[in-house]
Amino acid sequence: MSDFEPFYDVKHSYEDNYEQGPFGAFAKALKTTPSVTSGDSSPYEGELEKKTSDGVVGESGFAAFLGQPVNLPFGIPAGPLLNSRFTTAAFRMGFDLATYKTVRSRAWGCNPFPNVLAVHPKSADGSLTPGSAELDEGVLADTDYEQPISISNSFGVPSQSPDVWQPDMRAAIAAAGLGQVLVPSFQGSRVEGMSEEEYIADHATTARLIKETGAKLMVMNTSCPNEGHNRLLCHNPLLVGRITEAVKNEIGDIPLMVKLAYIPSDDDLELMVRSTVGHGTVQGFSTINTISAKLVDADGNQALPGAGRDRSGVCGNAIRGAGLDMVARLAAIREKLGLDFKINGVGGVVSPADYQAYRNAGADSVMSATGAMWDAELARKIKSSIK
Ligand SMILES: Cc1cc2nc3c(=O)[nH]c(=O)nc-3n(C[C@H](O)[C@H](O)[C@H](O)COP(=O)(O)O)c2cc1C
Repeated sequence: MSDFEPFYDVKHSYEDNYEQGPFGAFAKALKTTPSVTSGDSSPYEGELEKKTSDGVVGESGFAAFLGQPVNLPFGIPAGPLLNSRFTTAAFRMGFDLATYKTVRSRAWGCNPFPNVLAVHPKSADGSLTPGSAELDEGVLADTDYEQPISISNSFGVPSQSPDVWQPDMRAAIAAAGLGQVLVPSFQGSRVEGMSEEEYIADHATTARLIKETGAKLMVMNTSCPNEGHNRLLCHNPLLVGRITEAVKNEIGDIPLMVKLAYIPSDDDLELMVRSTVGHGTVQGFSTINTISAKLVDADGNQALPGAGRDRSGVCGNAIRGAGLDMVARLAAIREKLGLDFKINGVGGVVSPADYQAYRNAGADSVMSATGAMWDAELARKIKSSIK
């Protein structure tokens, strides 16, 4: 990978990436099409008029993502697209869904560098199974980035203040081409001394701030294992239900998707669906987020420096099996309950075959973070594979 440059450069800090990125093919895409406000960005644009060969067909004859027309329901989830320069470059590279990295109601710092390491599970196919002993015993992590790529990311969900991200998100939305959708992502911020009511209200406030940018839909993250301990909001479906009710009161008809981590129990997953979709507050789920693992270096020592960083979230090739499993189980619950909600499949998509596997498992749309970082041509490859 010596001459290869991921658009988010893992050798540099988050702050440097925010200021100077994107890099590699994404940087070139920004230079070749100077206007960032026109709908001239999709190399697949001509296809919008036609029905995509495998798309979820929307009312007007092409694919849709939470009610918005889209060329191909494929893109990049919350994470590597830090600001409007990244999302605009993603659109120009043919990713028709570009998620703006998770924002908060307030400025929030990033974990210390490094934030990304390559991860090498023991199994022959490089996969990690949720609940397996390896996740607690230690997975080798270093700077040897090999394909098929698996990494760990440890950022702590940094955010600019709304004064910065609101105008930038507006620009990001305006840069979407025909059949492309900017997907804002947000989460609540739990700070010392905050009551549960205040925590719920913080989600609603952040959703309102997003609504003010003119966003047509939004994704609420309930699944980041990178906040210092191993408890995730999505492990508490009833609290998620209360939060989504408060958010829905704030955003009205704007569709809301909830980002979920891997949830092992079908009963818990069904309770999540019942307490959100069942109350009309949620229109879709995006899943999965990273899988938490203990990371060790070649000597068996903690791989990431600093307290509370013995475990970190793994993504990429290693978690595709877990992502497909979650999507299939959610689709089965959708069928069983006869409820209407969308499923956005995420986790380990590195090839056109992986995109198809998620669609076959029941996903209405698909996204790739790690796979796209290491292959800027991924959207184009998927499009040419289904033409
Ligand atoms: C660099 C990086 C940063 C991420 N940051 C976020 C984030 O801010 N919010 C979020 O919901 N997920 C975040 N994620 C998780 C991804 O959205 C995705 O769920 C996960 O990486 C699995 O997909 P993948 O295997 O395609 O990478 C991040 C992932 C990466 C690689």
